[in-house]
Amino acid sequence: MPKSVQENPAKCPLGPGSLPLHLWSYFRAPLRCYQSLAARYGQPFSVPSPFGGRMAVSGCPAHIEQIYKGRGENYRVVDTASGMTFGENSLGALDGEAHARVRRALMAPILRHPAHAAGLMRDVALAVCAGQSYGESFNMLELARTITLDVTVRTIFGILDEAERRDFIAAIHALRDSISSLAIFVKALRYDLGPWSPWGRFVRARTRCYDLMDKRLATAREQGEDAQNSVLAYWASLRDPDGAPLMSDAQIRDNLLTLSFAGHDTTASALAWGMYWTHVEPGVLAALLDELGDYAKTLDTGLLKRTPYLDAVCWETLRIHPIAPGSIRRLARAMELGGYVVPEDSLVMASTDLVSADPSIYPDPERFRPERFLERNYGPDELIPFGGGERRCPGAAMAFMEMRVVLATLLCRYEFRLCETRPVKPAWANGIRQPETGVRIRMEGLRDTGRPRANADPIAS
Ligand code: HEM
Repeated sequence: MPKSVQENPAKCPLGPGSLPLHLWSYFRAPLRCYQSLAARYGQPFSVPSPFGGRMAVSGCPAHIEQIYKGRGENYRVVDTASGMTFGENSLGALDGEAHARVRRALMAPILRHPAHAAGLMRDVALAVCAGQSYGESFNMLELARTITLDVTVRTIFGILDEAERRDFIAAIHALRDSISSLAIFVKALRYDLGPWSPWGRFVRARTRCYDLMDKRLATAREQGEDAQNSVLAYWASLRDPDGAPLMSDAQIRDNLLTLSFAGHDTTASALAWGMYWTHVEPGVLAALLDELGDYAKTLDTGLLKRTPYLDAVCWETLRIHPIAPGSIRRLARAMELGGYVVPEDSLVMASTDLVSADPSIYPDPERFRPERFLERNYGPDELIPFGGGERRCPGAAMAFMEMRVVLATLLCRYEFRLCETRPVKPAWANGIRQPETGVRIRMEGLRDTGRPRANADPIAS
């Protein structure tokens, strides 16, 4: 047995011992690294974790099901990064009953009015694209970020005023740019040593976001804004039986920040990949346009209710390039997993990378083949781009709707040409994966649909 392997007296899952060597191999090629560990040690295997201790990893559906079935009391918060980044009331920083309570309040308002949200997503996509010149290449990921951040600011914060929206978007951009990926993993780097230190820059950018949110919250309260209008107005309206606010301002603020961060870069990455694959894989765009013929004529989002091929394209996009590598939990008590005992306080990961590339579940896994989603149904332990269990992504429905509406709208409205000359690979950015080049693409002109459009005017800003 190689030296790096844990000797395993207590039947812990086996795996390499050196953290630096493992991180080097993992960050170069995450899937290849996990596949070779799975081939060598079986599943679950274990790896040293930058969050401390070891992490048991598995992409077997039976193990994934077991990890997701675990109740909240079996798990603790993974690390303090979420709390230090988004505030101690942030969903990511809570566990047990506190987590369940905030999640209940949070799940209710996201995507309250799907029909309205779909129209808004379409209009934002059209308005953002209207700023592009024909024949010039641009970065699809950047364009997608502009769309998803605008949608977030309108639906989550309820901001319709142009100047206020611009301030929010600039503040969130500044905050995102100030987040250091290293500080997410290394606690020692999370100290404010002044405005020029990485954490100091971040703390100042966050204060700017807090100030804007406090102002927005005060306005929503003063004007008695309709709770249906936004997540912010809904949370501000919640009352306990004595009529006191159910969520404190700090709870609202921390979770607004969490939603805006968890939501916009992830969805933008999925959109950029969606545009990439629909232009790379022969036949996919034609099949999509064939299904979306009626939508192309009117851009009436009501026509997107039954679009199996579009749905299949979105699932395949999320499968072939998982944006998050998996769901990680910290054990509050030891867990038996696949014949091993994973000790208390260790981490366990349901690996999205491994299960999504498993040829026994997805034959020919490197191929982008949306048809696989028309040929069979995949279970909640096989198709896990949004995680699962009590921490499953609460924005999944919103993100999936945004992928469907924005992809359908862009592809039906415009003709694009991909400007990439080599296959685009995934790269890490702030703890998630995005297309390395951002996907260079060119807008050639309006797509000819043969009919005038109604309902297609970009929103007045
Ligand atoms: C394509 C886009 C997205 C992907 C791939 C994605 C994926 C994920 C994944 C894998 C998790 C962890 C789940 C687990 O541990 O089991 C997660 C958590 C989370 N996501 Fe998303 N997400 C997306 C979009 C969104 C959006 C649009 C929002 C909000 C509007 C959002 C809000 C959150 C929050 C708040 C959590 C933490 C949940 C908790 O700790 O209970 N996400 N997401």
